[in-house]
Order: sequence, then structure tokens, then C-alpha cells
Amino acid sequence: MTSQPSSGFEHGAPGAGSPEPAAETAAVAGAGPAAGASPAVGAGPAVGAGPADVGPAADVGRWFATATRRSLDGPGPTRGGPRLPAWGPMHGAQYGRRSPAEEVDSALALLAGKPVAVLTGAGMSTGSGLPDYRGRDAVPRSPMTYQEFMGHDLARRRYWARSTVGWEQFRTARPGASHRLLSALDPAAFPITAVITQNVDGLHAAAGSDPVIDLHGRLDRVRCQQCDALSSRTALHLRMLSMNPELAARLDQLAADAAQAPDGDAEVDRTSRFRYPPCPLCGGILKPDVVFFGESARREVVAAAFASLEAAQALLVLGSSLTVQSGLRFVRAAGRQGKPVVILNDGPTRADPDATLRLHGRLEEVLERWVARA
Ligand SMILES: NC(=O)c1ccc[n+]([C@@H]2O[C@H](COP(=O)([O-])OP(=O)(O)OC[C@H]3O[C@@H](n4cnc5c(N)ncnc54)[C@H](O)[C@@H]3O)[C@@H](O)[C@H]2O)c1
Ligand SMILES: [Zn+2]
Repeated sequence: MTSQPSSGFEHGAPGAGSPEPAAETAAVAGAGPAAGASPAVGAGPAVGAGPADVGPAADVGRWFATATRRSLDGPGPTRGGPRLPAWGPMHGAQYGRRSPAEEVDSALALLAGKPVAVLTGAGMSTGSGLPDYRGRDAVPRSPMTYQEFMGHDLARRRYWARSTVGWEQFRTARPGASHRLLSALDPAAFPITAVITQNVDGLHAAAGSDPVIDLHGRLDRVRCQQCDALSSRTALHLRMLSMNPELAARLDQLAADAAQAPDGDAEVDRTSRFRYPPCPLCGGILKPDVVFFGESARREVVAAAFASLEAAQALLVLGSSLTVQSGLRFVRAAGRQGKPVVILNDGPTRADPDATLRLHGRLEEVLERWVARA
């Protein structure tokens, strides 16, 4: 098993868009020594200011392992759909299958000429070097929950330390063929009401798709959990490098180690001394502006996504296992609205039984054919 460098979204965005926040919260409560503690909002400039509050018993790695075991259990089965793992490829599932060209063309015929809402997932960005969670090459991960992040200074130190090491790789990711081909579909022949993406990488916008609805937020933004102010991740990254000169000096080496280590990030795991700043405006807790496990997508963003489905006559899903309810609900809603649903994915999805037309294959190959024929 190989380990991915900590891009900072593997511990933040993954599993984003918890469907049942109450259930998630209940599952998390009691998982760690201080789980369920009230968020340290407004802790002021002392937040992460130094190692004084970290005793020898505060082994972040050990605590984290305990606190996240729950997330490996995976979601339950749903309405006859396959049971998918929380992380990693689905055991025994078929990957690499390709639907015949006639089916690819019938899907285009079904969709072309009418407004289509497009829902995308991590499969869009594997070609850009950003790993997915449940594809054939996926590596099991332990995402940090919202409750862990907000409830524990040590958890935040760990999150920011690891994601600082992985940020450069994430920041420099560029749109791949799938993003470019989707935005190259002729809008007259293939009108798209919106690209609703579960990804947090900003690559649809970078490829020119418009409008893009970032259902689970964007990792290049930071949001204060107290005053709601948005700021730039790059600015925070530079700030944290200056606050952690020792780590900054070894950043390249740590990133390389993280990519090599068999079970990941041993060095980076010594994170209890990592320093991170509070919100400069109000002293609140800064958090990447992405939806963590145990947190719900923002109301206005979900409303915009539903509006784009309302305005559409069909739904196209690209590169998502639809394991996360936050995305799955659009398939269910399209079904209720009597709109056809086309799912294109390599590997099983949780909504396979709900699809009007289920295409198997690689996004870049199918989209290339559609762009040439639309
Ligand atoms: N790039 C990102 O921003 C990113 C990456 C991973 C996960 N996430 C987050 O984690 C959650 C994961 O759910 P998800 O359903 O999006 O991801 P997922 O990993 O559960 O599903 C991705 C699916 O895409 C398939 N796939 C991979 N490459 C493909 C290709 N080239 N062609 C066709 N299919 C391909 C995989 O086999 C897999 O079934 C999301 O909510 C998202 O917020 C984001
Ligand atoms: Zn603030």
C-alpha cells in the first residue's frame, strides 16, 4: 500500500457532505478522550500558540487512530444499491469495464439538446493527480471529522501540519482532460445548467466550466467559524510556514517522505507543536472552507444545486461512487421529478439501480467521443 502526501483534503474534505449530521455527531461522540467538548471558538490569540497545553500523554497520532475508527465502518446498504466501503476500492468490484460505443452514443442522444445538470465527483480529478476515495487505486484513509477539528486543539494542529505538507501538491494541480472536455461540450448542442461538483479542488472553474456549484466548498479558501469571514488558503499557508520555521525548512523532504512512507506521514505525525493562527478579525477558529465529515453542506449552496436540477431536464453523473448522501440526493430528486439520470463511472455506484442509463468507462474517453459528436 502506498501513501499519498497529505494534500490537506484527505483529512478535511473527504467524505464531505454528511447526510445525517445528527447520526454522524452521535457516532463521533465519545470516540476520543475529549470528544464532544465544546468548540474552542473564540479562544483568542492563544489558539495553537505553543506547546504548553500539550502534555506527554497527548499523543495525537494514537488519539487520532482511536477517534476515527468509526469512519472505517462504511455506510450501510441502501435501496438495493451495492454496499460501498467508506474508503478504498470496493472489494470484488469490477473496475475497468467499458460500455459499448452504441450505449455511449445512446446516452448522448438521451442527453443532447436539452438542459442537463451535471454532478461530478473525485473521478474527474484522478487524471490531475488527486486521488479518489473509492476507485480501484484508492488508499484507505481516516478523515478528520468536523467535531474532532472544532473540539480539539490537538486535532487542529495535526490537520494543519499535515495539510501544510500536502498543500503544494494540491495547489499546483491543473485541470485534466476530463475537466477540459466537459467545458468543451458545445453549449448549443449540450446545454449545461450547472456543474454541481463534490470536489473541492476548483479544477472545473479553472477549466472554464460556468456556472460551477462547489457543493462541498473549496480547499483554497479558509472560513472563520465564528465571524464567517473568508480568506485565502495560500495566505494562511505562508503565515503558518513563518510560524513553524522548523517544518518550513524541511517541507520538501517531508512531502517526499509522506509520498514514500508505507503507512504514511510518520514524521509529519509529530504535529503537537505545530502552530496555527486564529482569525485575525475576531480570534475565532479558522477552518478550510470545505465540508468535513459530520458537517452539512451550506444551505444556500445546496439550494443553488437543486435550482440547477429544477432547470434541467436530465441529470448526468460523472466520476462519483455516490456513496455520500450529499451527492446521492440529486439522483433521488431527479427520479422524483421524472427526469432521466445517466451515470458514467468506472466502478460501482450507490445509485446504480436508480440510473436510467448506466455507462461504464473512463470519463476522458467517453467525453472525448461526446465532444466530437455533440
Ligand atoms: N479532487 C477532490 O476535490 C476530491 C478528491 C477525493 C475526494 N473528494 C471528496 O470526497 C468525497 C468522495 O466522493 P466521490 O463520489 O466524489 O468520490 P469516490 O472516490 O467515492 O468515487 C470516485 C469514483 O470515480 C471513479 N473514477 C476514478 N477515475 C475515473 C475516471 N478517469 N473515469 C471514470 N471513473 C473514474 C472511481 O472508480 C470511483 O468509483 C466527495 O464528497 C468529495 O468532497 C474530493
Ligand atoms: Zn473571525
